[in-house]
Amino acid sequence: MLENKFKGALKERQAYINSVLDVYLPEVEGRQKTILEAMHYSVTIGGKRIRPILMLEMFRTFAGEDAEEERIEPFLAAMEMLHTYSLVHDDLPDMDNDRYRRGQLTTHAKYGAAMGILTGDALLNYSFETACKAFSITDEEWDLRVAKALKIFATKAGVYGMIGGQVVDVEKTGQPLDTEEISFIYELKTCALLESAMLIGAILGGADDGLFSDIVWMASCIGMAFQIQDDILDLTGDESKLGKPVHSDEKNEKTTFVSLYGIDVAKEKVKELSAEALWLAEKLSCTEFLKELVVYLTIREN
Ligand code: IPE
Ligand code: IPE
Ligand code: MG
Ligand code: MG
Ligand code: MG
Repeated sequence: MLENKFKGALKERQAYINSVLDVYLPEVEGRQKTILEAMHYSVTIGGKRIRPILMLEMFRTFAGEDAEEERIEPFLAAMEMLHTYSLVHDDLPDMDNDRYRRGQLTTHAKYGAAMGILTGDALLNYSFETACKAFSITDEEWDLRVAKALKIFATKAGVYGMIGGQVVDVEKTGQPLDTEEISFIYELKTCALLESAMLIGAILGGADDGLFSDIVWMASCIGMAFQIQDDILDLTGDESKLGKPVHSDEKNEKTTFVSLYGIDVAKEKVKELSAEALWLAEKLSCTEFLKELVVYLTIREN
């Protein structure tokens, strides 16, 4: 019963994020139509929308009842565009070389490698164009929050964030990793975007600077658990539910948390990290849905 209620609430939020994306994705028209179509394709074929949903819940945690939620919509859309770009590039032939994503052909498998690269570039750039639409120009206090949020959005995606993690992930392929190295990779390639989403939601909602370290800590626990669960599903998941190939890590000789410590330790670690995240969510008085989502992510099958 409770589970059905949660799933309904999750679906409702996913539908909301999809409707926001419909508004902010560019029109498919003009001479460069192919790239615009490929951008639509990669964003709309599926995806759980976890990052914008976490952003929304953090906004709801801090903004109060009568907040104007539509003001954060450019950032909700931008976050999903940026994340989708990271997936499009992650799947490329010279990266993880995967042919399926979100239950459909990967962008490069459908449009060719050159368009795959350009679609990632286009989504990355368009995510910034979209986030900039959050500026009001008339409300100084709000625009200061938007400026702060943009700085986080830029930094967490870059060489000190997601890209930095992907670089070490690629460089260390086929090599054994120690605990410090695997934590570095996961913290950057996966946690950084979750930290970005949750911090931006909090900042736009008006959270006090003093809370930022706890928010980043919570997001990092959720992100680390999320990537370990992703590694577990790569080994034990059902391809038709997952929407992407299983055994991709083995094929690419990736050292993962699972290959290093075994599946039982990995499952235990997901539980431990999620319990830590829940403790922090309680401390920060996060929404009930956010807490339920943290628990759901530990048992997710896709
Ligand atoms: C996949 O992210 C990449 C990882 C960081 C593990 P998601 O599991 O959120 O992928 P979508 O957006 O639902 O397709
Ligand atoms: C990728 O990690 C994280 C990104 C920054 C895209 P993975 O390579 O394990 O993600 P999947 O399994 O392909 O979604
Ligand atoms: Mg990868
Ligand atoms: Mg991959
Ligand atoms: Mg994976």
